[in-house]
Amino acid sequence: MPSTAACDFVLFGATGDLAMRKLLPALYRRSAAGHLTDNTRIIGVARMALSREEFVNAVETHCRKHLATEFDVQQWPALAKRLDYVALDAAKADDYSRLAMALKDRDTITRVFFLSTAPSLFTHICQHLAAHSLVTPASRVVLEKPLGHDLSSAIAINEQVGAIFAEHQIYRIDHYLGKEAVQNLIALRFGNTLFEPLWRRGQIRHVQITVAEQLGVEGRGAFYDQTGALRDMVQNHLLQLLCILAMEPPASSDADAVRDEKLKVLRALRPILGHDVAKKTVRGQYKSGAINGAPVIGFLNEPGITNGSVTETFVAIKAEIDTWRWAGVPFYLRTGKRLQERTADIVVTFEDVPHSIFDSAHAAPTPNKLVIRLQPDESITLTISAKQPGEDMKLKAVNLRLDLAESFKTESLKSRRFGAYERLLMDVAKGNLTLFMRRDELDSAWRWIDPIRAAWSESDEKPKQYIAGTWGPAASSLLLSRDGFSWHDES
Ligand code: BG6
Repeated sequence: MPSTAACDFVLFGATGDLAMRKLLPALYRRSAAGHLTDNTRIIGVARMALSREEFVNAVETHCRKHLATEFDVQQWPALAKRLDYVALDAAKADDYSRLAMALKDRDTITRVFFLSTAPSLFTHICQHLAAHSLVTPASRVVLEKPLGHDLSSAIAINEQVGAIFAEHQIYRIDHYLGKEAVQNLIALRFGNTLFEPLWRRGQIRHVQITVAEQLGVEGRGAFYDQTGALRDMVQNHLLQLLCILAMEPPASSDADAVRDEKLKVLRALRPILGHDVAKKTVRGQYKSGAINGAPVIGFLNEPGITNGSVTETFVAIKAEIDTWRWAGVPFYLRTGKRLQERTADIVVTFEDVPHSIFDSAHAAPTPNKLVIRLQPDESITLTISAKQPGEDMKLKAVNLRLDLAESFKTESLKSRRFGAYERLLMDVAKGNLTLFMRRDELDSAWRWIDPIRAAWSESDEKPKQYIAGTWGPAASSLLLSRDGFSWHDES
């Protein structure tokens, strides 16, 4: 059964990395699963002069590459027949008449404009679409991150896009929210009574959120050099994870009920200003090293990076949330490229036992920890103290581990595990805004990020260098050890 009404997906930036690596393979999977109606079409839009046939061939090549064994020659024609291509320079008004031709007589069909382009083009594209009467009541626009480079540029984009599309037609995407594991976090918090009484100050000592990558800048040097890890990862993915972890239970799963609660967390984040920036943040930049034993070059030698660039490829931040629930509980955020492992972990460390009855010479109890691993393998581990076998009362931390892939391993359930973009593209088609950022959330996130960025650019200090394949600069460990803690992977 198709799960959406007919839809025209119009992908701006269709020959780019995101479209070829994620969006089109995602649509292939949905097509193969029978979730697209016959009348659904996918129109690639980009500057490159390609014929429809050349575009279809390029999509096939990328789908084969990125879907590997999942690619099924039998299923391919079902996607191929939906594809079309319009060569268009997004900044040139006249070019849009070609798109208008491709969309002719389909005004009543849901229309999804996915803007996977530089944010500087968002406004032009929306204005040209409107000028050619292509924005129908059934249209939606999807804006890829980064949405602007600071609060004022984000406000400008939102104002201009908002003059053409109503807020309920605007889908600001953060693909982390589409990850099955991130939605599981919502299930863990609000589908169980077990954690809620413990989910607060007095019970939780500190929280760590780490999103570590082994990848470098992967051919996106010029973009990344302008962006850096704070804008690329913290402003969106890490803050969204923080919101889901820290928000109050929403009254329902309605888009605005959830987004209202996330917004309250963002607004309660204590600003990091002036001298505090040096105390509570660490920025790093990778130099050459090795990943899984293979040598890799340093950031400054990557193609597209300006000489002597001070762009950060690593960030660690001590965030604090000024609410009754969270006062005094630090949330340590950490992300970086070319780190030792690819992992996304949330580690919740509970308070020490108030009084140990055990002989400390025989190892006192270690605080309980809840480790939620979002990727690469999805699991939940609760660390508890147990007695080691033997005569003495000697305690040791042992793990109670739930492997989510194992728990839902039957074939029928496996095939229902959709990637983040697959999920989000269908949510746009269905008009479900829950997993997209509202404008005020985005503004609040920038409001918290901007002073950090500003203090860094005013400082004479450069990002701390770290060797590729390690866990980042030593200063990142120091950020926690000053508070008497250590990163999960160091303990
Ligand atoms: C993107 C960033 O938003 O997220 C990339 O722009 C980063 O730099 C990517 O590599 C990480 O996503 P994932 O899903 O691989 O963890």
